[in-house]
Amino acid sequence: MREIRFDRFGGPEVLTLHTDAPTPEPAPDEVLVKVLFAGLNPLDFKIRDGSSGRAKDLPLPAGTGREMVGTVIGAGSGLDQAELGSRGLTEGTRVFGMRGPGDHRGVAAEVIAISADDLAPVPGEIPEEDLPRWAGLALVGLTAIATVRDTAGIGEGETVLIHGGSGGVGQLLIPMALEAGASTVYATGRSTNAERIRELGATPIPYDTADWGVELQRLTDGRGVDVVLDTHYHATFLPSLDQLAPGGRIVALPTLADLTPALERGIEARVPSIVQSRERLDRLAQGIRAGRYPLEVSEVLPMSQIDQAHARLQEGHTRGKLVLEVGA
Ligand SMILES: NC(=O)c1ccc[n+]([C@@H]2O[C@H](COP(=O)([O-])OP(=O)(O)OC[C@H]3O[C@@H](n4cnc5c(N)ncnc54)[C@H](OP(=O)(O)O)[C@@H]3O)[C@@H](O)[C@H]2O)c1
Repeated sequence: MREIRFDRFGGPEVLTLHTDAPTPEPAPDEVLVKVLFAGLNPLDFKIRDGSSGRAKDLPLPAGTGREMVGTVIGAGSGLDQAELGSRGLTEGTRVFGMRGPGDHRGVAAEVIAISADDLAPVPGEIPEEDLPRWAGLALVGLTAIATVRDTAGIGEGETVLIHGGSGGVGQLLIPMALEAGASTVYATGRSTNAERIRELGATPIPYDTADWGVELQRLTDGRGVDVVLDTHYHATFLPSLDQLAPGGRIVALPTLADLTPALERGIEARVPSIVQSRERLDRLAQGIRAGRYPLEVSEVLPMSQIDQAHARLQEGHTRGKLVLEVGA
């Protein structure tokens, strides 16, 4: 079967498409899935170039990708028909999900074995052409829940600034912050993404055509915001500290973000950690199905262009999600 692997850490060129990979054997608690599409994330290139904490103990060669959509084609010995049925994961069911934190295997392969706990069914009425969105849902969706609910704890009437409102996580942070009760959500992005940010329910603040800090001060009458959700971090974290209303807090998304400058000023600052659960995957499925989480796929690339896909990811200007077509 076809599978993308890399045998050393480095640039996008270390990713190679193999056509002779063995089909995996599912462990007792695992399901065998024929992958249709894989969602791509910045984490993928950080693992590939060795900069992510997750690259530390990664045995090479390694696969790539964390999240996907596919069809159940088998199961391990610990999952009988009754168990699969109760989880909605019987053979032929379309499923979406992501690898758990301790599972370092990739998903950019025609067939994968993955824990049944890390999957949820795609509702039957979802048309085939919508599946790329489901491939890109689990990682950004679970991140957005962890950010808005577990880490920022956004409450009724709070004002929120999101950096990168049209990116993968940003496209879910906006509706989820509003759902949590935020009174106004502002979101930065390039001016070309302003309309998309507005469609998602936020007030766009272009950072490439004006000084976003000045604009935010103008929009908030000099008060600033209660919460900053910073998906970009590099150019935005430090100046954001001056945009917080008294008692305000900041959440930086990149796992290796240095929070010291905020903490030294007595500002509450945190990095979210994904909590993976079937209940949360089902909640995401309901949200996307009901149109509350209108996550967008900006591009679907074939497996043979994985190096270009990673180069694109690294530019840091993805709109919605980049998705790899694996077996559709
Ligand atoms: N802590 C966790 O568990 C966790 C989980 C998932 C992701 N993450 C991290 O979260 C970050 C975001 O992930 P993602 O999937 O949303 O990335 P993404 O899809 O690549 O989006 C990046 C966003 O950053 C924006 N951006 C770029 N330069 C900017 C600037 N100078 N000012 C404001 N915005 C800017 C882009 O907007 P424009 O295109 O308009 O420039 C784009 O919307 C990544 O570092 C990722 O590794 C952490």
